[in-house]
Amino acid sequence: MSTTGAAPATIRPMREADVPAVERLTDEGFYELDVRTTPPDRPVPARRSQGRALRWQRRMHHILAHDPGGCWVAETQDGVVGVAAAMKRDLTWILATFVVSPALQGQGLGSRLLESALDHGRGCLRGMLSASPDPRAARRYRLAGFSLHPTMDLSGVVDRSCLPVVERVREGSSSDIDLMDSVDRQVRDSAHGVDHELLTTLYRLVVVDRSTGSGYAYVESDGSPYLVAATNRRSATDLLWECLASSDPAASCTVGHVTPANEWAVDVGLAARLDLRSQGYLGLRHMKPPMPYLPSGHFL
Ligand SMILES: CC(C)(COP(=O)(O)OP(=O)(O)OC[C@H]1O[C@@H](n2cnc3c(N)ncnc32)[C@H](O)[C@@H]1OP(=O)(O)O)[C@@H](O)C(=O)NCCC(=O)NCCS
Repeated sequence: MSTTGAAPATIRPMREADVPAVERLTDEGFYELDVRTTPPDRPVPARRSQGRALRWQRRMHHILAHDPGGCWVAETQDGVVGVAAAMKRDLTWILATFVVSPALQGQGLGSRLLESALDHGRGCLRGMLSASPDPRAARRYRLAGFSLHPTMDLSGVVDRSCLPVVERVREGSSSDIDLMDSVDRQVRDSAHGVDHELLTTLYRLVVVDRSTGSGYAYVESDGSPYLVAATNRRSATDLLWECLASSDPAASCTVGHVTPANEWAVDVGLAARLDLRSQGYLGLRHMKPPMPYLPSGHFL
């Protein structure tokens, strides 16, 4: 445990009982960031729904259960005011969340929290994180040695007349975990492992398993891909089309975290007539941008 000089806060390991407060803090922090950075032609930022908040808490409980040494909070007499949560998968360190209360940002709390979370990754060969557009976050990550790869989002309502016929994409289940771990090791040198046990309960899973290539995608209920990994572009492209085909014909969906190495995803999004914008970074240490791969925000 340690106290910061700038803000009178203690940095300590996260406990199970902290999870609801941590969820509220991250909702507040990202809402304030969205209000600060969302262009006027984009949908007005909204707070997390109750359903999404509960799902967020389930993810945090999972990370805390498997990586207690990577989960840290900053606490003042007013309660939890900062969080950094990281995990180790094979030999890759992954940052799941990092937020400081808006009123206390820029005073050094983030630096102390990130230092504790990074310490959990001692001995790891690689590091990955998904960086918001906040310049404070970008500064912290670069100073911690991460290369910042600018990412793109494609969003909008899918033009149904553009949907191709996609063959041999099937529904997946927990019996596909070995296949998915094998794909992940080929694409990003580390498996998601225990995370699939949770992800298969939270998201629809679709799988490609052909002699020419394999891959999988977790899909949000609105058709947005949550995570896509494949051994070749053809499989990844089919999986992304399968995600978009499940979108609501009248509602917007988003293909996020697209690095320039994943132009196949830009091409699918543009063909579906989604709008392309730059948004944040993929922060990587000692690794190249994985491809074909669309990382999830939390489990990368
Ligand atoms: C990112 C975040 C967690 C960092 O926590 P923090 O307590 O603000 O971080 P620190 O104060 O330790 O470091 C911020 C750095 O940015 C600098 N900074 C402060 N305001 C800044 C601004 N407006 N523009 C650019 N840099 C700024 C600070 O001086 C500091 O750098 P230094 O230590 O070299 O002087 C916090 O700002 C936050 O919650 N942001 C919104 C949510 C978010 O984007 N989270 C990251 C998700 S990937």
